[in-house]
Amino acid sequence: MEALTRLSRLVEEVRTVDKVVKVLERCEELSVGAEARVLRCRFLGIDAVAKLRLPKPFLDPRIDAKLRVSRTRKEARAILKALELGVRAPVPLWIDEESGLLIMQFVEGILLRDYVVEKGWCDDTCRYFEILGEFLGKMHGGGLVHGDPTTSNAIINPLGELYVIDFGLAEFSNALEDKAIDVHIAFRAIESTHFVAEQEFKNCFLRGYSRTYDRWRDVVARVREIRTMGRYVERRRTVWGEDRE
Ligand SMILES: Nc1ncnc2c1ncn2[C@@H]1O[C@H](COP(=O)(O)OP(=O)(O)O)[C@@H](O)[C@H]1O
Ligand SMILES: [Mg+2]
Repeated sequence: MEALTRLSRLVEEVRTVDKVVKVLERCEELSVGAEARVLRCRFLGIDAVAKLRLPKPFLDPRIDAKLRVSRTRKEARAILKALELGVRAPVPLWIDEESGLLIMQFVEGILLRDYVVEKGWCDDTCRYFEILGEFLGKMHGGGLVHGDPTTSNAIINPLGELYVIDFGLAEFSNALEDKAIDVHIAFRAIESTHFVAEQEFKNCFLRGYSRTYDRWRDVVARVREIRTMGRYVERRRTVWGEDRE
């Protein structure tokens, strides 16, 4: 009973963002992106990441607020969907949509990008690309596109487990085109950052992808078309957001 009272007091305490910030301790900045500030903090004793979308003073405040709410909400929903589909991703711990705040599990480890740059082509790097492909296939099978499935948005923890992070551009979509763009983005990142064994890495990725997504052939065919016909229009992070809700 006393524990329950304590818990409800705690929930009361974390209800507003000001108060959440109070229960966030020992924060240090991890990154400041175009979309969000990412902090590493202790949250109720848990090693956590706080992703905060701040108001953009140059946007109409109402549009800005709406975008912040919808992107924050969509990011949390996308992570939950990914987890449900069997993708390893940081577990959401707290959300305050109005404040653009999403708190999630901190995943210790190194970015897949740095791992691949350091190790180059070997069985282990191939295996990680395969897992990344498997995870993307699971998402696509479940109607979720990641939006930025690059090696900068994947972390290998000390146990050697791969996590997918940054669902800030994710969409709920079953459109072949959206899935093809996802794979295209993954390929483009391999070409620009991991060109030492470009084709090999792509093959490893596709081995995983084809294992978890049965329409992989259609997606790959579409990726080829997009590339050869140059019909891909660069999808970027913009201050206007790109919500299609
Ligand atoms: N859950 C997490 N655990 C550990 N590090 C994280 C986590 N989320 C983000 N980061 C770190 O913060 C960086 C930026 O976060 P990310 O979600 O990718 O935001 P952005 O939209 O700015 O790219 C990541 O590249 C990673 O280094
Ligand atoms: Mg990122």
